[in-house]
Amino acid sequence: MTNKYMYFIANWKMFGGLSTLNSLTKVIKFLKIFKKSKNTKIIYCPPNTLIHPMFKKIMNSKIQVGAQNCHESLTYGASTGSINSTMLKNVGAKYVILGHSENRESGETDKLINTKIKAATKSGLKVIFCIGETLGQKRKKITNKILLKQITLGLQKVKRRKNIVIAYEPVWSIGTGVIPKSDDLFKTINFIKKKVKNIKVLYGGSVNPKNINELKLIKNIDGFLIGGASQDPKKFIDIIKKTYN
Ligand code: PGA
Repeated sequence: MTNKYMYFIANWKMFGGLSTLNSLTKVIKFLKIFKKSKNTKIIYCPPNTLIHPMFKKIMNSKIQVGAQNCHESLTYGASTGSINSTMLKNVGAKYVILGHSENRESGETDKLINTKIKAATKSGLKVIFCIGETLGQKRKKITNKILLKQITLGLQKVKRRKNIVIAYEPVWSIGTGVIPKSDDLFKTINFIKKKVKNIKVLYGGSVNPKNINELKLIKNIDGFLIGGASQDPKKFIDIIKKTYN
């Protein structure tokens, strides 16, 4: 049984409407009676359309709300379809996921991610900074090189580092059901922690109620970023429970 302080972050991606928020009732109830609740940080990152209604729903609960991305500008501007970190904060977001591989794949560069991190931390949001190698990069055995590049460029001149957690998400693990070997994961997390001092490092990629028993044994992991399984309250609760069992 662990007593460690752990993050459980739900990334709903482009899923969910107003009625989906009903699924949180179960989680809120569970957290009220869960003995290890004080050792957990629970953050839900729904689509932007649900941030404010979710914020209202989770008031007086253990849950905090975050966004999945934001624009790099701190001020209002002529940018059709965009939302910046100040606007997210205004509707109740406390966190924002930045650098997710799904956004890197659609063209976000390390430099842009760096600008976003600076803007988000400046506006008072905490950042969940995602890094990870692709399958091709893993096969070429350049994982550490890629991670170091993402970390170095992404965190360049970023001051408020205590407001950042890193989520290591191998791209080949996301939504595939495949997770890294425990030994490899331990080493990679260690590598990241050596390069960025005093930082929490979470793991993300196909975390589910089955593989959590294996993942929770990896001592240097500070929590999990959970995609698919986080949409099902039962699975999400199961993951939290099993982590502390
Ligand atoms: P997954 O997604 O848990 O569905 O693999 C994780 C993520 O993309 O953050």
